[in-house]
Amino acid sequence: METFDNTLSTIDKRPIGVMDSGVGGLTVLKQLLSLCPDENYIYFGDTKNLPYGGKSKEQLIEIVKEIFEFFESQKVKAVVLACNTTSATAYEELKDKYPFKIYPLIQSVAKYMSADTGLLKLGVMATEATVKTKTYTKEFQKHNPQVEVIEQACPLWVPIVEKQITDYDENQAIYGYLKNVLEFNPQKIILGCTHYPYLLDKISKYAPKELFINPAQIFARYIIDDLKQNNLLNTSSAGSVHYFASSEPEHFKQNAKMFMEINEMPGLVEI
Ligand code: DGL
Repeated sequence: METFDNTLSTIDKRPIGVMDSGVGGLTVLKQLLSLCPDENYIYFGDTKNLPYGGKSKEQLIEIVKEIFEFFESQKVKAVVLACNTTSATAYEELKDKYPFKIYPLIQSVAKYMSADTGLLKLGVMATEATVKTKTYTKEFQKHNPQVEVIEQACPLWVPIVEKQITDYDENQAIYGYLKNVLEFNPQKIILGCTHYPYLLDKISKYAPKELFINPAQIFARYIIDDLKQNNLLNTSSAGSVHYFASSEPEHFKQNAKMFMEINEMPGLVEI
């Protein structure tokens, strides 16, 4: 497993908050832990308000405000929006209002991926709220106006993951959303919701696995690079992860264990 080069970094032991509506953001936490295991992370799964994808911008801003207040009380140095939907809807409104750095997924990933100038035709699978804002299209075109992006909402995918639904018609629930995007013939398809990588085995029945990008790794690298540049990185101590869920912590724990192979979840509490 690749680890981050920690030479010359400073020591800031304050925790990093990582948030999503449920277990989806664990795909990002996993990458952060593999790049920088020495940090202290606080993961917040907002199971009370799940799913975010069908909510309005105004509702999501109010939800994220509450979570940011919780992170503020935990004296975090940074918050990772391990969630495309809130990066698209709440980030702009809240980005300058808190005493910590905020990392939005879509904006960060578009910046790093745009360095690959050969990427000119992209597909994005995302939640309804994310697609409505066209944030993926805007962010990629900000770096290169030539890039063409097709965005497709997949409202069934988060419930399938969170509720562990198995008895659904794959042709309808999976291929039904992919069809249009595949017809567009993109060079890559971004899994633009942190829950979707859990469905990759199902999704890749309809197109080669290599076509799909789970942006979690690129995002984690962006965050660690930026923390380092801002002298906020902690590479000095044994790291920790504490988990919080806003409702049904036991259900969250069962889901998380399936995906993260976590046996112990210290501090998992309902707030
Ligand atoms: N996993 C989140 C995202 O990346 C939110 C999914 C949801 O709750 O609808 O957009």
